Amino acid sequence: MVFKVTPWEVKGKVDYNKLINQFGTKPITDDLIEELEKIAGKSHFFLRRKIFFSHRDFDNIIKWYKAGNEFALYTGRGPSGNTHLGHLLPWIFTKYLQDAFDAELYFQLTDDEKFMYNPDLTLEQTHNFAYENALDVIAIGFKPKKTFIFANTDYANTLYKIAIKVAKKTTFSTAKAVFGFTNETNTGMIFFPAMQAAPCFLPTILKGKEVPALIPAAIDQDPYWRGIARAVADKLNYPKPAQIHCMFLPGLGEEGKMSASDPDSAIFTTDSEKDVDKKIAKAFTGGRATVEEQKRKGGIPEVCSIYKYYYFLFEEDDKKLSEIFNNCRSGNLLCKECKAELASRIKRFLKKHQDAREKAKDKLDLFIVKD
Ligand code: TRP
Repeated sequence: MVFKVTPWEVKGKVDYNKLINQFGTKPITDDLIEELEKIAGKSHFFLRRKIFFSHRDFDNIIKWYKAGNEFALYTGRGPSGNTHLGHLLPWIFTKYLQDAFDAELYFQLTDDEKFMYNPDLTLEQTHNFAYENALDVIAIGFKPKKTFIFANTDYANTLYKIAIKVAKKTTFSTAKAVFGFTNETNTGMIFFPAMQAAPCFLPTILKGKEVPALIPAAIDQDPYWRGIARAVADKLNYPKPAQIHCMFLPGLGEEGKMSASDPDSAIFTTDSEKDVDKKIAKAFTGGRATVEEQKRKGGIPEVCSIYKYYYFLFEEDDKKLSEIFNNCRSGNLLCKECKAELASRIKRFLKKHQDAREKAKDKLDLFIVKD
């Protein structure tokens, strides 16, 4: 089946093994997981389930850390709308890494990118979304003294000086090959990858010593690192950034990435309980046409969006997860009950998140950096 993964578009059923080959990354092995869990002192189900499934130089970052050196975490968000659960996936894992390694986190909000990319968004809108999204980031529970969140247009003095060095070493033909830019692409977008690469080198510049970045992010962002940041690092005498890649949280529809463009296929962090109930009620399942048929034949958890939500976020316990799977298969667990349980877990999660998000409004100053 044909699928497409670019930083601005994800289409079709993604074959993640194929991406490992296409992008030239490495699968996360059980040995690597074991080593990470030893340092972290606890496991994370995102690793066990291979939701974080691929990496570049993550093993070297661990070596570097074990030799007594510091590294920094870097991730980000394109503020084109409200935050949905899919966005939280890499952030939740980033928090695990921050706790495990006591590392600094640099978090980029690309209000410039989303303004230049989207013909319908004004800069004022993307700038506002940046600060709305920042509340969700803070609500995850990052350490205030070690976390630096910035909107590109408010941190431009620092970032621009790095970005022009990156841009000077990046030709248009490289940018075209990496991102598929054409003659119709606006020139802001052609420069933009340098802005997203810049924070890879920021920790080294701020500290005045080699502090490599480790980037936990969905795999669609990989072209920035592979094609730009890693390609120029040597030339600029900065350490190459390492990556650890996750899958996309599936949407509540039949297939493909959870998309902000179809609001019913995603749960947003600002959704009400009623929204959740409505969206889960509408969600695509692996259920049969009638209750009778389902009891007889069993459901198909493999294709079920509800099951995927348990798998990705809402059932950490592997034994309990396989009970859900088996009970669905055997026809003992019906969609109605299974959906009701998921909806109540999502609502519980959102209540906590929304409380933390409210409190984050008074904490912005502790996290946001500007220049
Ligand atoms: N371009 C990303 C997006 O559209 C935002 C982003 C900026 C980012 N820097 C990042 C994402 C680093 C992951 C890691 O969502």
